[in-house]
Amino acid sequence: MIYLVYAHPYPSQSRANRILLDALRDLPGLEICSLYDRYPDFDIDIAAEQAALGRAGLVVWMHPVYWYSTPGLLKHWFDKVLSYGWAYGDGAAALQGKDCLWVASTGGAAETYSVAGIHERPFVDFARPIEETARFCRMNWLEPCVLHGAHDIDDAALAGHASHLRARLQSWLDLNVGTGTTATI
Ligand SMILES: Cc1cc2nc3c(=O)[nH]c(=O)nc-3n(C[C@H](O)[C@H](O)[C@H](O)COP(=O)(O)O)c2cc1C
Repeated sequence: MIYLVYAHPYPSQSRANRILLDALRDLPGLEICSLYDRYPDFDIDIAAEQAALGRAGLVVWMHPVYWYSTPGLLKHWFDKVLSYGWAYGDGAAALQGKDCLWVASTGGAAETYSVAGIHERPFVDFARPIEETARFCRMNWLEPCVLHGAHDIDDAALAGHASHLRARLQSWLDLNVGTGTTATI
């Protein structure tokens, strides 16, 4: 199954991520954990999270980009759930071989993430800590799904992005459910 870890601090105020998430909700085999709804006091149920990850073949981390990174509760989830001896370290292989898809939205337009742009670097530079977190846990890092210009994107383009994301997850399910092996999208 797919375990989607959703980290929006104000889910009811979201436009972009809410539309993306709503486009996915009825996918079979998709389990969504909205971190800020489930753990408003940051008291993460580590065993439950690790069990959900154990069931998953694809792990999705989905959030708006805040200060070039994840919202605080997803960082806290990394700190608590991706523990030594389970996710990484000697003999740890709980996440080995699982696919990991990063789904992020930015307020900045695509062209602002360049040497000449206001953020001075390509967006991929800011993805590195997330990517290496996945790789350090021996997960298979998939091509991220990034929505730039989330404030300005019109409804049709946002719906198109949502369809694209849904199609990627559906392809993963088509390739992996019932096959007993893992193929990537
Ligand atoms: C505290 C905070 C920090 C943010 N930091 C960034 C940032 O570093 N880069 C960026 O492009 N957008 C940044 N944004 C804009 C958000 O990424 C944007 O509001 C979000 O992707 C929109 O998605 P939503 O409609 O689901 O809330 C920030 C927004 C907030 C509230």
